[in-house]
Amino acid sequence: MDLFEHQAKELFAEYGIPVPRGKVAHTAEEARAAAAELTGRVVVKAQVKTGGRGKAGGVKVAEDADDAYRKATEILGMDIKGHTVHKVLIEEASAIAEEYYFSFLLDRANRTFLAICSASGGMDIEEVAHATPEKVAKIPVNPLTGVDRARAREIARAGGLPEKAIEGAAEIIEKLWAVFVDEDATLVEVNPLILSADGQVRALDGKVTLDDNASFRQPEHEAYVDAATTDPLEARAKEKDLNYVKLDGTVGIIGNGAGLVMSTLDVVAYAGEEFGGQRPANFLDIGGGASAEVMANGLEIVLSDPDVKSVFVNVFGGITACDAVANGIVSAFKLLEERGESVKHPLVVRLDGNNAALGRKILQDAALPRVELVDTMDEAAKRAAELAAVGA
Ligand SMILES: Nc1ncnc2c1ncn2[C@@H]1O[C@H](COP(=O)(O)OP(=O)(O)OP(=O)(O)O)[C@@H](O)[C@H]1O
Ligand SMILES: [Mg+2]
Repeated sequence: MDLFEHQAKELFAEYGIPVPRGKVAHTAEEARAAAAELTGRVVVKAQVKTGGRGKAGGVKVAEDADDAYRKATEILGMDIKGHTVHKVLIEEASAIAEEYYFSFLLDRANRTFLAICSASGGMDIEEVAHATPEKVAKIPVNPLTGVDRARAREIARAGGLPEKAIEGAAEIIEKLWAVFVDEDATLVEVNPLILSADGQVRALDGKVTLDDNASFRQPEHEAYVDAATTDPLEARAKEKDLNYVKLDGTVGIIGNGAGLVMSTLDVVAYAGEEFGGQRPANFLDIGGGASAEVMANGLEIVLSDPDVKSVFVNVFGGITACDAVANGIVSAFKLLEERGESVKHPLVVRLDGNNAALGRKILQDAALPRVELVDTMDEAAKRAAELAAVGA
């Protein structure tokens, strides 16, 4: 889960990291009131979970409260890379002497943690990293020894920060490491980390990604979940412990095992090209044990998506054999009927692996309406795409 900048900064403040004073506003009126409270120059910042807000016109300086009202009017409702701005952060304007870049992240490729530090921070950091990579220090962090003050100083020096900023930056880097570890984050980024005109180092931006796999031991992270931007079907799927991600196509996908579902997405996208560009409408992994209830919940979620025109159920029988999955589908149809949710779209089912023949027989005998059995994954993908094109 990604945090909004204002959430990241609230978290930073809890760890004693200096951030500007600020307040969230959902309307231009609220923005004016927040600016009046802060007094003096403020910065109006779009709160969207994407980078490059400054360049898109989503970060503006306001001279006073009335100006903050005007700037908020311009920014609220803006579209930044597909994200609509619903709220702005009003914060005191800092007098910036220098802008640095700092982040901790999970380096999956090298199976370690990484600190990235540069004296050339700010909105052009991507350009700096591309044109002059030597200005961006990448330092692996040993998870067993972590980052103490001495290590933090080394990192700041490796990034080329000037001597006057080392102590302040090291203090922040040490605290950011605590945020990274204690909050189970996979990314903690501060760009810009600034040196102010009066010599203070401060976090002027904040980007935090929390590891959802750790949410079981981070109950307080629940408070960060943003109901307004979470897809309602994704929320319902989560309640039912289903691994569901909404995509933008028309072919609903249900499979057992993340690897199989991922490759199903590719095969459907490829097959769909022939039928006017039909694409997967979602990712849904029902996991290893495809019980009737799990299958019914999965079908219900996928069929509730108004974009779905056909469904492809792709199952490779393993410990849970295909006959059990087939019985699951049959019972799922009954369950859905009882819930008053008729199956209104065609279903293409491909069963392979353990007890595939028996599974197919069960489905044939059940003669479920709108269910077609196809033997291979490629053929089934093609048929599902074709049916989606007809239904679309
Ligand atoms: N409180 C502030 N006071 C003064 N200037 C600020 C303040 N906040 C941001 N800025 C200026 O605006 C620029 C852009 O802000 P910020 O980095 O928060 O947004 P961004 O462009 O979306 O960055 P990113 O692409 O890293 O998400 C900063 O580099 C800084 O120069
Ligand atoms: Mg930034």
